[in-house]
Amino acid sequence: MQPRVRVKRLAAVGVRLIRVIDQRPSKTDRKGNAMARRMLIAGNWKMNGLAADGVALARDVAGGAAGLDGVDLLVCPPATLIAHVAAALEEVDVAVGGQDCHAEANGAHTGDISAEMLADAGARYVIVGHSERRADHGETDAMVRAKAQATHRAGLTAIVCIGETLAEREAGRTLAVLESQLRGSVPQGASAGTLVIAYEPVWAIGTGKTPTVPEVEAAHAHIRTVLGGLMTGADNVRILYGGSMKPANAAELLAIADVDGGLIGGASLKAADFLAIAKSATS
Ligand code: 13P
Repeated sequence: MQPRVRVKRLAAVGVRLIRVIDQRPSKTDRKGNAMARRMLIAGNWKMNGLAADGVALARDVAGGAAGLDGVDLLVCPPATLIAHVAAALEEVDVAVGGQDCHAEANGAHTGDISAEMLADAGARYVIVGHSERRADHGETDAMVRAKAQATHRAGLTAIVCIGETLAEREAGRTLAVLESQLRGSVPQGASAGTLVIAYEPVWAIGTGKTPTVPEVEAAHAHIRTVLGGLMTGADNVRILYGGSMKPANAAELLAIADVDGGLIGGASLKAADFLAIAKSATS
């Protein structure tokens, strides 16, 4: 075939493909939320797993992911496993994320990892401000905001974690704490495409305890309202619930208004449990 004829044919195929793509129905989740607020089920593996375990877990997740429509899946392994896990998930629609990053792109910060490095290893998301980092490493809202900014600089989506302690809840300060953490941690210029909020009551993490449905509903509604004053497009930002989410309680938690998915710790280490939670986001 003459090169010019081949180019023309390729161009015609391209135009047809674009038409087909344009005519696809836009993706929605089971709540009828459009793309921006499709359910996101994210696993935070925390400091668990060596290469063989991580790859096996990722392969098991990949095996069950194909049958799940209307839900976005994400796994956040330890930084040492990101490249391994990203390779294991190459053929499926499951994203990979980091659990933390440094605010700078590079430099003399022994032991730290930048958002650019996470992106280079295959990450598309970074969890920032998890309560375990706030507690273990003294991370302040200002530091969390700088990390979220770094995540955006690297072209990744930040999952900004907020949540009250038991003492703060018992003092009736839950909504005030969430508001102040949001005001301090959400970076300027954030958009629904680059920001996810995770509400994780500190006392619910790894304890088997969860807030009641009305408590979760009130927290998420308040988060949405506060976000509305901080950025444009707040209605499209996904707000995840995290803290002892498991197959037995996922359906109830995910059905709550303004709960757009889950950030799952312990139960994300078993593919069957993680997939069962993801399934309840689709039904
Ligand atoms: P658990 O699901 O183990 O309670 O952990 C939640 C969490 O911290 C996710 O980031």
